[in-house]
Amino acid sequence: MEEFEGIVGKSKKMQDIFKEITIPSKSESSILIEGESGTGKELVAKAIHRLSKRKDKPFVAVNCSAIPSELFEMSFLDMRKEPILEQTREI
Ligand SMILES: Nc1ncnc2c1ncn2[C@@H]1O[C@H](COP(=O)(O)OP(=O)(O)OP(=O)(O)O)[C@@H](O)[C@H]1O
Ligand SMILES: [Mg+2]
Repeated sequence: MEEFEGIVGKSKKMQDIFKEITIPSKSESSILIEGESGTGKELVAKAIHRLSKRKDKPFVAVNCSAIPSELFEMSFLDMRKEPILEQTREI
């Protein structure tokens, strides 16, 4: 069975994905992985993490849609409470 880091796939597209996974593993940038539900996005994210310099640090999967947007911005985008309140007042 053809697989890479636990991801199964023998099609040309999957082989390309296996190659692409190793590229961002060397980068500090944020990565957006898009695809239909259940197609293995989290599997790809975990593989990138395992191959990265941060492999010894925890991998934390977050269900963004379950978090209120203000809380998400404050927690993940390092936005302070004030600008958010100001934006709300302007509306
Ligand atoms: N190519 C694959 N090889 C092996 N297992 C796979 C593959 N694609 C998906 N899976 C398995 O299918 C399940 C769903 O995969 P995963 O959670 O990575 O999908 P997802 O794209 O993040 O889905 P969602 O959009 O619903 O969050 C997992 O158990 C995963 O291990
Ligand atoms: Mg997912």
